Amino acid sequence: MPNKKAVRFSPASIGVSPFLNSVVLYAAVWYMSHSLFNQLLIMLYLEQGSDMREREHWKNRSIFIMAAIGSAIGLGNMWRFPYIAAQNGGGAFLVPYFVALITAGIPLMIIEYGLGIRTQGSANIALGAIKKPLRFIGWFAILSAFTINIYYCMVLGWTWNFLFDMGDLHQWAATAASSKKHFFNDILHISGGPWEFRKIHWQLFSGLFITWLVIWAIIKSGLSGIGKILLFTVPFPVILVLILLVRGLTLDGASTGLNYYLSPNWPQLSNSKVWLAAYGQVFFSLSVGFGTMITYSSFMPRDTELPNSAAITSFSNCCFSFLAGLAIFSVLGYFAVASNTTMQEITQGGPGLAFVVYPAALAKLPIWIKFFGLLFFITLLLLGIDSAFSLLETVSAALSDKFDFTRAKSSTIVAVISFIMGLPFATSAGLYWLDIIDHFVMSYAITFVAIIQCIAVGWILGAKTFTTEVNKNAEIKIGPIFTFMIKFLTPGILTYTMITSLIEEIKTPYEGYPLNSILAIGIGTLSLIALFSLILSCVNTKNDEEREAEVNKILMEAG
Ligand code: PFF
Repeated sequence: MPNKKAVRFSPASIGVSPFLNSVVLYAAVWYMSHSLFNQLLIMLYLEQGSDMREREHWKNRSIFIMAAIGSAIGLGNMWRFPYIAAQNGGGAFLVPYFVALITAGIPLMIIEYGLGIRTQGSANIALGAIKKPLRFIGWFAILSAFTINIYYCMVLGWTWNFLFDMGDLHQWAATAASSKKHFFNDILHISGGPWEFRKIHWQLFSGLFITWLVIWAIIKSGLSGIGKILLFTVPFPVILVLILLVRGLTLDGASTGLNYYLSPNWPQLSNSKVWLAAYGQVFFSLSVGFGTMITYSSFMPRDTELPNSAAITSFSNCCFSFLAGLAIFSVLGYFAVASNTTMQEITQGGPGLAFVVYPAALAKLPIWIKFFGLLFFITLLLLGIDSAFSLLETVSAALSDKFDFTRAKSSTIVAVISFIMGLPFATSAGLYWLDIIDHFVMSYAITFVAIIQCIAVGWILGAKTFTTEVNKNAEIKIGPIFTFMIKFLTPGILTYTMITSLIEEIKTPYEGYPLNSILAIGIGTLSLIALFSLILSCVNTKNDEEREAEVNKILMEAG
């Protein structure tokens, strides 16, 4: 997190080539808002209710796996991972990260795939069918997805802003200080604290708006449209990251960054906050605990192979995370050496790390500065888009499942509400809100969902029923190790780390924020998620009853 005092800069300038920025942004916003407006009209006046719809399906298993990988590989790998690792002891982080991947990430991925494929429903239906009160957990996961997408799209909005400022990268990123000023002052217009909003900044507003229009248009196009987009948004950023990686590894000083990234810092491992952050990062990175993987897998037929698909998704994401880490930290090492500072010092950027230090490092390259700058921000955008639309799909599919809305109707409702709720993030206090909400949702809400999902499948549905059902079409069979993990190990570790971190959290508020902002923004968000989950799970619709009964029958037969 930036030093809240040190980031006050002189008034912002709009940045580079303002005329070009404005023309392109306005044209894009104008064009896309017309299509949104038309959609709203159609929705309000023309659309009639319909009987229960046929569930859409992915074209084949490869597209499904590609969609899941697209959701998993995202900003979490290049934006969130480096600063969370840096906040939690740098090299200390990789060990708990891998432990978390094995003990919680992969088992939960199997649970979510299993629930989605077998129940053909969103998280609320899948969990509600096991026991009615678990509907609440389903909605809690879905509304957490809704919440993180609100700020996730803002980060993509920043990225658009950066893309438009690429022409002058060599100037604004010339030094660490000027790059910091560019991000905090020219892009974010940051204020002194979470209650100092000042105003909604039009560049941030436009970035947020474009992001929502793009992901809304993609989701509205249906699974076949999504499938086509994925063919581009999944492989392309991987190639771009490989290019950045080769560039990073061939720079002088790369080894300084890699040493920081790869050497474990053992004493840090006794800190439960580091462990909770590692579990949170694994959930964020694999997109588990949000109901997203339940939704995506519910678009596959009931006899789909499952454990191997879960393993492919998890390992692809894990390899990509590791490579992205190498690409980022090698360039940061180069920067540390070139500017005669230490890794500890340059990695203190919080959520700004990838947006401050990386461009500053690129600006020190001997040649092709703008090219690599462009490559980096396009990579971020492509990585983030398919994750953002998976989050939108999670919420929109749940509404369709519950209220029988069409895809167009539910995605439009969710996109419009989310965009409006994202406006505080486009003010001068946006970064503080993002940081606090991200911390509380990721550390507590998702961990809570993960614990209950393990208990629901391990104890209530029964691990035996679940494994037998999953193994019917499995390429790799799951057995006693999986059962032991979901019944004892995973919920045990998660409960322990969550409670110990909560105690520490009460003693020292997160990142030194004022207690009132922690309570109102952090705890307030968690309470709102809980309240709306309760309301949505108590409101009974015809679909809820029918779908849950149908799924329940299948689960009983399996048992
Ligand atoms: N996994 C995505 C990333 O690493 O950026 C973020 C994300 C997508 C989290 C979908 C949760 C989710 F359901």
